[in-house]
Amino acid sequence: EKDFLIAPSILSADFARLGEEVVNSLSAGADVVHFDVMDNHYVPNLTIGPLVCTALRNHGVTAPIDVHLMVSPVDRIVTDFAKAGASYITFHPEASPHVDRTLQLIRSEGCKSGLVFNPATPLDCLKYVMDKVDIILLMSVNPGFGGQAFIPAVLDKAREARKLIDESGFDIRLEIDGGVSAGNIKEVAEAGVDMFVAGSAIFRDPRTEEAYKETIDGMRA
Ligand code: DX5
Ligand code: ZN
Repeated sequence: EKDFLIAPSILSADFARLGEEVVNSLSAGADVVHFDVMDNHYVPNLTIGPLVCTALRNHGVTAPIDVHLMVSPVDRIVTDFAKAGASYITFHPEASPHVDRTLQLIRSEGCKSGLVFNPATPLDCLKYVMDKVDIILLMSVNPGFGGQAFIPAVLDKAREARKLIDESGFDIRLEIDGGVSAGNIKEVAEAGVDMFVAGSAIFRDPRTEEAYKETIDGMRA
């Protein structure tokens, strides 16, 4: 695996041409497909479910699909996403009453598991489940919508999470989601993050593979 992974959030893609958009972003150099699942209950928006994940796999997408669950309850959708071809499944600890059990369920379904921390949620519960997470995802916006401004307080949290990961000795990715662009990615990487979600920064006009490549190359620079 690469040192730094770029994960375009398809929330900002053109849903009428989703397959093409995902293929173009991957051809442009993206590493992972970030797949935002919202239920109009845990978050105030409604998006896509396992059917769409299956459709992307049937469309020939072989890259890892990073399913970010913003739903409550969590457990009953996990198996469906595993069957639909999810690679990573992450969820918010506030959305599941039995965090440890949900993490175990995700791994038992053959996926990599992760916890997502909202901007004002402390990392406290992590210390009890460090051996059960493959990804720690820090929200740098409040979940629900693309195109919001990056919340700088998360940089301190990223340094804190990086320290916990290094001290644990486990192989855990540190992912960030929200308001990431070529303009701030360097600062975010310096705080210890190694997986970067970007929605509106990548999926904007012109919607061509070349334009996506320019943005992704800019983020890696
Ligand atoms: C927000 C989602 C993000 C969102 C990021 O709830 O989890 O993945 O799409 O979009 P940008 O990069 O535009 O902030
Ligand atoms: Zn997300």
